Amino acid sequence: MSDSETIAAGYAFTGPALDLGALLWDGAPLPDAQIRIPLPMLNRHGLVAGATGTGKTKTLQLIAEQLSAQGVPVFLADVKGDVSGISAPGVANDKVAGRAAEVRQQWTATGFPAEFYALGGIGHGIPVRATITGFGPVLLSKVLQLNQTQEQSLGLIFHYADTKGLELIDLKDLRAVVTFLTSDEGKTELKNIGGLSTATAGVILRSLTAFEAQGMADFFGEPEFDTSELLRTASDGRGMVSVLELPAVQDKPQLFSTFLMWLLADLFHDLPEVGDADKPKLVFFFDEAHLLFNDASKAFLDSITQTVRLIRSKGVGVFFVTQTPKDVPGDVLAQLGNRVQHALRAFTPDDQKALKATVKTFPNSSYDLEEILTGLGTGEAVVTVLSENGAPTPVAVTRLRAPESLMGPIDAATLDAAVKSSSLYGRYAQAVDRESAYEKLASRPQPQETPKAAAKSAPKEDESMVQQVVGSGMFKSLARSVGTQIGREITRSLFGTARRKR
Ligand SMILES: Nc1ncnc2c1ncn2[C@@H]1O[C@H](COP(=O)(O)OP(=O)(O)O)[C@@H](O)[C@H]1O
Ligand SMILES: [Mg+2]
Repeated sequence: MSDSETIAAGYAFTGPALDLGALLWDGAPLPDAQIRIPLPMLNRHGLVAGATGTGKTKTLQLIAEQLSAQGVPVFLADVKGDVSGISAPGVANDKVAGRAAEVRQQWTATGFPAEFYALGGIGHGIPVRATITGFGPVLLSKVLQLNQTQEQSLGLIFHYADTKGLELIDLKDLRAVVTFLTSDEGKTELKNIGGLSTATAGVILRSLTAFEAQGMADFFGEPEFDTSELLRTASDGRGMVSVLELPAVQDKPQLFSTFLMWLLADLFHDLPEVGDADKPKLVFFFDEAHLLFNDASKAFLDSITQTVRLIRSKGVGVFFVTQTPKDVPGDVLAQLGNRVQHALRAFTPDDQKALKATVKTFPNSSYDLEEILTGLGTGEAVVTVLSENGAPTPVAVTRLRAPESLMGPIDAATLDAAVKSSSLYGRYAQAVDRESAYEKLASRPQPQETPKAAAKSAPKEDESMVQQVVGSGMFKSLARSVGTQIGREITRSLFGTARRKR
């Protein structure tokens, strides 16, 4: 066998697979050598990397389309606002036709079933909100940019509210609880909590106030988004593509990256173990993923690593889309089995370093990857994936197929119409403010009689994992805490996110 035949043989899978494109050999595509990803391996996670404008988002679109076609729901974090086009048929032109012919793709303009979401309803999509209690202290600390001591203190405040039946639905609920604890009246309560200083509570209160002043209140509250919406298929059996539009919150990377993590943690919390299945339950794409890792605390990074490691057995695949593999922490990168690496620049010493580091993350091959990676054209990439038996496939320089849906955004009017006609619109469009901690504290009798925390029975929760993930006594007690006033269990797991029994 020639070298190119050996590579092609490494991608000749017997079961269902997604088509990425054709092997590039001496600068020309070999249509007989198809480069693919086995469908069952999509839960082994992936990385799509490359410099700006090299084709990362189109690769994401290409993979997402084929997943939908195979009945797999997809979640897309749309940071730049350029993937709503997946819902509309693409436009045929010479470029697309030329590319399709070169890689032997039967290109048919096709739109895919899509649902559009917007964080806190800022934008066109169906509003996605989380309750404060659902979000939990670890993720909230990340958005508030609290240090470790403050993060632990916030955990204690959540624990206090959970046990006292003070429901933390929105930001003003949390602010009311912290205000109470720092007041003359709440002093003894604060002392009883133990390990929480007035000074730290004061810092948290100020950061909450500042956070609200930045217009963050809309993101938290009810109705809380039910992440099982992301697992739906359309009536024709194709997987629903859930597009979360993020351009309107682009200047709040801490907020939206943390929200994406909340979605994953919440899914993780709910989904049963399935092991390695025929195809994933959901594939989740994080575009501009470096924003997730920037300035992240050790606790936060550990939680990401754990989530990515464990969610695979629940049938969820995660793809990170970013500029270089260096943007992703080593422990996470090691778990990304499917790699599509687009062109990298080598202008500055930093670029050079990133290039060398990128080359090291690939299996051995006869290619000079440094040279190849700087010379790739748009919509070309160096690929290695996991074969059906879980071994890495040979490194393959690939000309990618063209997406069959529209490259770029659909117009705002079309998007609005899709949102308003969605069956989910009625459920989430309107924010609801019911009685919770704020109202309870505002109407409390003077002097305050604190309700006794009732039943202390621990909900059946995977405690070993909670401990493993968060590793502290504080979170162990959080997992045990039960908010009983309205008879709803609160359990905390990965990231300390909570779930009331629905
Ligand atoms: N697979 C592809 N098929 C057809 N055109 C592509 C493909 N990949 C990239 N392109 C072209 O390159 C442009 C930039 O690609 P894009 O995915 O937006 O880059 P990135 O996300 O890396 O910044 C696209 O608008 C499109 O014209
Ligand atoms: Mg992009």
